[in-house]
Amino acid sequence: MSRAIQAIRGMNDLLPDVLGLWQRVEQCAAGTLRAYGYREIRLPLLEKTELYVRSIGQVTDIVEKEMYTFDDRNGESLSLRPEGTAGCVRAGIENGLLHNQIQRLWYAGPMFRHERPQRGRYRQFHQIGVEAFGMSGPELDAELILMSARLWRELDVHDVALQINSLGTPDCRARYRKLLVDYFEAHRSVLDEDSLRRLQTNPLRILDSKNPALQGVIEHAPSLVDHLDAESAGHFARLCALLDDAGVKYAVNPRLVRGLDYYTRTVFEWVSAALGAQATVCAGGRYDGLVEQLGGRATPAAGFALGMERLVEILVEQKSLACTGVPQLYLVLLGEVAQRRGALLAERLRDDGLFVECDAAGGSLKSQLRRADRSGAAYAVLIGDAELSAGLVSIKALRVDEVQEQISELNLAQVLKQRLAR
Ligand code: HAM
Repeated sequence: MSRAIQAIRGMNDLLPDVLGLWQRVEQCAAGTLRAYGYREIRLPLLEKTELYVRSIGQVTDIVEKEMYTFDDRNGESLSLRPEGTAGCVRAGIENGLLHNQIQRLWYAGPMFRHERPQRGRYRQFHQIGVEAFGMSGPELDAELILMSARLWRELDVHDVALQINSLGTPDCRARYRKLLVDYFEAHRSVLDEDSLRRLQTNPLRILDSKNPALQGVIEHAPSLVDHLDAESAGHFARLCALLDDAGVKYAVNPRLVRGLDYYTRTVFEWVSAALGAQATVCAGGRYDGLVEQLGGRATPAAGFALGMERLVEILVEQKSLACTGVPQLYLVLLGEVAQRRGALLAERLRDDGLFVECDAAGGSLKSQLRRADRSGAAYAVLIGDAELSAGLVSIKALRVDEVQEQISELNLAQVLKQRLAR
């Protein structure tokens, strides 16, 4: 036997057992996004590398060391998308969707980053992302946050906490950057190698460091929220007021800087205690300069993306296994007539909206019941030749304690629906 080929590290197969939850999240998200007027856009998985260099930033981890970049057969440098915002802006400009227009868009699909794989961090992962264009006020920022909060409610996700911050305008960030460099220069001796490098390239990212030895010096660093320009400060105050009005709880986290360079003013993250080290399930913010930076006319914009793997993991942790794609019923067919009629009966039950798996492997009652149990179905419907000629079938609960009962075939769908709703 030759050696079996394995998947690429950090790129997971999504197996049927877990896909029920994925589909539930996808359906719920599509419904929630529609309720706020967002429309789907589908974008290529590959873009020119330059797009990401110009948007995410040359000195970010993503562009410096995480992209899957290669030259195609024409010698052009392409990259698998590490995120969706840049591609969405590129498509918006290219298709004339942005100038002087309001657009509310969403997308879903795989993203690729060559990170060190660990729980909640993969090299191929999936996002549902949202991008809104043409609205500069904090009302849009609040809408995005309320929309994500509604999705958590719909999915019955608890234990997620909201953190917000403001990064101000590029000008006030440049001024703050100077303050920060002076501060960290004065504490140079405690900085690690990574932070020393960032001191030259991207000092704000030092605030993001997870190195325990740096936490003291980071804690006492000046905060950007204390050095915002008047307009950004007003924008942030109004966002906080809007969230207060809506009863959304949040914490202002002055260390929240995000790993992509395009943000201006509001940034936010939803963090879950159920997730371990990779705790952020959803993140985003405002990026008012990006459209112009990528060659479009200046257009304010904001958005977020949620990580599907992490959201599904929260649902698994919470044991929200309500919809795992298993059938509701398993038809056990005993005898020749039953086998012939069983498939038709299953069709009628499906017409009534039930999820039905019909035995097609035959064998004894015992072996069919074993398969019924393995299918995960809540009920087995036992159909025998003699019973069938009298118009009767038996229902047997597989997951709860209930007496097996014989009922009329005509009442079957109704009775089962009542039982399943209990
Ligand atoms: P991001 O913070 O890089 O933002 O990613 C958003 C979310 O994707 C994260 O919070 C996390 O749940 C998930 N995620 C990121 N990397 C991984 C990974 N390696 N494995 C598993 N999940 C991951 C963005 O991508 C921005 N485009 C969000 C945005 C949209 N901002 C404005 N609009």
